[in-house]
Amino acid sequence: MTTDQIRQAYLDFFQSKGHAVIPGAPLVPENDPTVLFTTAGMHPLVPYLLGEPHPAGKRLCDVQRCVRTQDIDEVGDASHLTMFEMLGNWSLGDYFKEGAITFSFEFITRILGIPLEKFAVTCFEGDKDAPKDEESAAVWEKLGVKRERIGFLPKKNNWWGPAGQTGPCGPDTEMFYWIGATDLPPAGSNPANDDANWLEIWNDVFMQYNKTKDGTFEPLKQQNVDTGMGLERVAAVLQGVASVYETDRMAPIMRAVFHEQDPRDDTELGRILTRHTRIITDHLKASAFMIADGVTPSNVDQGYILRRLIRRAIRSLRRLYVERDASFETNLYCSAIAREVIAQYEGAYPHLRKQEAQIVSALDTEERQFKKTLQEGLKHVNKFIEQNSSLEQGLRRIPGDMAFHFYDTYGFPLELTKEMVGEHGFTVDEEGFKKAFEAHQALSRAGAEQKFKGGLQDHSAETTKLHTATHLLNAALKQVLGAHVHQKGSNITAERLRFDFNHPDKMTPEQIKKVEELVNEAIRSDLPVSYHVTTVDGAKAEGAVGVFDSRYGADVKVYVVGDDAKGVFSKEICGGPHVARTGMLGSFKIQKEESSSAGVRRIKAVVSGGPAEIETASETAS
Ligand code: ALA
Repeated sequence: MTTDQIRQAYLDFFQSKGHAVIPGAPLVPENDPTVLFTTAGMHPLVPYLLGEPHPAGKRLCDVQRCVRTQDIDEVGDASHLTMFEMLGNWSLGDYFKEGAITFSFEFITRILGIPLEKFAVTCFEGDKDAPKDEESAAVWEKLGVKRERIGFLPKKNNWWGPAGQTGPCGPDTEMFYWIGATDLPPAGSNPANDDANWLEIWNDVFMQYNKTKDGTFEPLKQQNVDTGMGLERVAAVLQGVASVYETDRMAPIMRAVFHEQDPRDDTELGRILTRHTRIITDHLKASAFMIADGVTPSNVDQGYILRRLIRRAIRSLRRLYVERDASFETNLYCSAIAREVIAQYEGAYPHLRKQEAQIVSALDTEERQFKKTLQEGLKHVNKFIEQNSSLEQGLRRIPGDMAFHFYDTYGFPLELTKEMVGEHGFTVDEEGFKKAFEAHQALSRAGAEQKFKGGLQDHSAETTKLHTATHLLNAALKQVLGAHVHQKGSNITAERLRFDFNHPDKMTPEQIKKVEELVNEAIRSDLPVSYHVTTVDGAKAEGAVGVFDSRYGADVKVYVVGDDAKGVFSKEICGGPHVARTGMLGSFKIQKEESSSAGVRRIKAVVSGGPAEIETASETAS
């Protein structure tokens, strides 16, 4: 089956079992400051797993694009990706273990045709928080899975969630496909005793607990099922290829990376080049999807993850091409490869094609910029390596302050330096790097010598100011345009804020001016900013604006700008941080007001002239 067929078969199957097909969410979680990217299909569904009724009903399924950066070091092997597609089905207090396992079994054996001889599962072995999951094991056995193919494992393996610090979670049962060297697994082998030879393809989580702040697991109102199947892995299994990179949609991107000259062979060099080709493929695919979902390269948050992925891809491109291609320095590879990503995925993700211009321009800009410093930085790195290559293996170490210098001057993220020197048998003193990094931040906080160059400043003061400016803007828009104004999206880089809100018409120049004036007045009044923690209902009752479907538990932070004496200008549910007084924002200016989508306007605005060092808002005593 092709990747597209598997995707469709999954949705069709679950639809035939009474599930509503819902759209996948964007990669950047909306109004959720606790995580940078959507990491699982359940992520946008947390409020509903906690008991909020979902408008589409109790049985849902979808395809969710996910980014998991914690796997970044493993990218390049056969099965790990930073961005992947998760096929998921959910029961919100409807069917539970038997129902979920029966659906999974039927889909795997009947629809996908995976032979039972190559199939195994694991279940939760039990601990103080929840009993051994004999119930799931019994369902698998009843369906025809042999006892010897059922492994039991502890929480570390067979428990999923919460996605943040608190929230829905529970024991899970995971499904595996045999990838060992022999055609069939030997007697007694299962993922609990023979982990390396089994590939996880699907996970059914029985979300019946809510992990609370104090670390206890309390039973949820309803017993939910949350599942996640890795589309690329299943495609590899069904297409009989050795890695996710050789599946039908990924292979053309690999070919776009290595052109006619396939570097893959079974030599040491061949393996290194294969790894680089895979890194480029994965990272630029993830980058294209991120940019299409509104992320732009920057030095903070999602933007910095994106920048790191692109830079790592460029460095790998250099490794593949610099000797082969005389015009390496001026050629722009990233956007060309991204065009292949768009061609492969536009069927399932039409928004990629719509965002093609943004994808190409962001990648071209990054590639031009980074190539300027990459060359210089590499010279420096290579010189150090040459001078120290006679050292014994254990002593080949890059000092922390030097790694920091590479970061600071040439824009090399730590993992990039680690990877480059690792190929020459060197390690990096990571503790030393952290110390240098922190010392530097302390220095810049003290207003001392500003050493940061090349646009790599720590802009956290700037983004904090822009966060607070966003609250002021939100409140001012309501005053000027009306109470119907609600936030539809927000994105902050070190340079500007971007704020999307519902409003039917283009704003007039007078309205724009009025909003600016209100915000600047609030800044001049130097209003205090503080927060308090309350329940969602409490926040509602006191008139705070924001998103009321609390995703990670009942408590929320409410940021208040102003006080009883000077009047409250804004009250908003938010994770923070914010500046302690509005005066720190300097002055506020709207740079652009434009249409974002039907009925949604977009404002880009900046602040300037505030102090370089800021204080952040703290909790009120009450
Ligand atoms: N949320 C579960 C996972 O990501 C299904 O594995």
